Amino acid sequence: MNRSTELFQRDADAVSDVMKLRFYPMVAKAAGGALIRDADGREYLDFSAGWGVANTGYGHPRIVNAVCKEMNRLSFSPTISVLNEESIELAERLREMTPGDFEKAVWYGHSGSDANEFLYKMIPAATGRSRIVSFVGSYHGQTMGSYSMSGHPAQGKFTGGGNVTRIPYPYCYRCPFERDRETCGLFCLKYVEDFVFASQVSPAQVGALIAEAVQCDGGDVVPPDGYLQGLERMCRRYGILFILDEVKIGFGRTGKMFGFENWGVTPDAVVMAKPMGSGQPISAVTGRKELMDAGVGMHMFTTAGNPVACAASLATIDVIEEEKLAENAEIQGEYLLGRLRELQAGCPVIGDVRGKGLVIGIELVENPETKKPASELAALVVYRCYELGLLLFDSGISANVIELTPPLIITKQQCDRAVEVLRQAIEDAMTGRIIREDLGDFAGWG
Ligand SMILES: Cc1ncc(COP(=O)(O)O)c(C=O)c1O
Repeated sequence: MNRSTELFQRDADAVSDVMKLRFYPMVAKAAGGALIRDADGREYLDFSAGWGVANTGYGHPRIVNAVCKEMNRLSFSPTISVLNEESIELAERLREMTPGDFEKAVWYGHSGSDANEFLYKMIPAATGRSRIVSFVGSYHGQTMGSYSMSGHPAQGKFTGGGNVTRIPYPYCYRCPFERDRETCGLFCLKYVEDFVFASQVSPAQVGALIAEAVQCDGGDVVPPDGYLQGLERMCRRYGILFILDEVKIGFGRTGKMFGFENWGVTPDAVVMAKPMGSGQPISAVTGRKELMDAGVGMHMFTTAGNPVACAASLATIDVIEEEKLAENAEIQGEYLLGRLRELQAGCPVIGDVRGKGLVIGIELVENPETKKPASELAALVVYRCYELGLLLFDSGISANVIELTPPLIITKQQCDRAVEVLRQAIEDAMTGRIIREDLGDFAGWG
């Protein structure tokens, strides 16, 4: 029995299934840059960045240094009661990094979920309006409030709060209104004002609308130009807070520091997590002071905003800015999209290839005419890629979208290698070289 198999057996016995979403039997032992070594010494190219966390790559020396230095100097102080300089410096930095000529403050947590939970709790307190609008297909987290705001099937087992109204995301490849992107005049926005606000929820009761500028777990869906601007204008018309969840695409991934900057909008609050500390657990909401100061001690966690996590985040921001990682994300993203579109041309099961910078989705379908989601094929391709040395996951409300979110340090050669492995994996899955039985329990979302 190899070491990975042995560790998997111990994990099955000792670690709760409630925290498992497994696509293949990978046990990470060591990592550097965009490469990960498993417990048996095999090397993999990581095109998931560990679900979008390792934007700066693994083990970046400046971040390792910052963490070790802070750990030696001040290993902990509970920011909720005992201040530390790092948390203040980071808050000031985040305020400067986000747009908006208004007073802002920063809240800290550990995960995207607890940051979105802040919103679910504080929006009614700050606005006096109890209702929230979110999107079908959105994923905001797994705590009670954050999953109440989500619209992803992964949350389907829970009822959630009844104060959230979900509207369709502009998923043009599968437009729910069967309109054409070129001529629709953003009908999906008109639908919200003319139908949802007229019949489902009065806009006067809506405190906030929360959106992802690229809807990741919903299938890496990029909204058409003009959509986010239209959404912002609609929120302003009704006095609704316009909030963007940048947990997965923030910190350089889309070619800008924040994804929404691609469309020039100014959110009232921005949710940040995953890559923010290069793996140190830290999240933040940066937003209008009226929202952020709407109650004292209403959403606080003992280890949130601790000095080591804040030091990691400050170093992460320095690295992204100084090493121009957003610029690299834009360059490599365009190159990768081009290569994947070439692949699509000879491969009818690739229904759509879309992305912004280094958040890219390859939507697999059984037939390009019917667009029936090829969910099992996606699971096979993801598993086969693992066998061939490439790590990635799938996403989408039907789990049929291969998601590429590599570290932002990747090179053109690594993009070429990933495309070659993907081509091989799709071919192997199509020709029966790998079948569902080979996956065992490793079916990801399915
Ligand atoms: C957009 C978005 N928001 C929130 C979350 C939840 O983050 P976490 O898993 O850190 O709680 C995720 C996780 O995938 C996400 O993609």
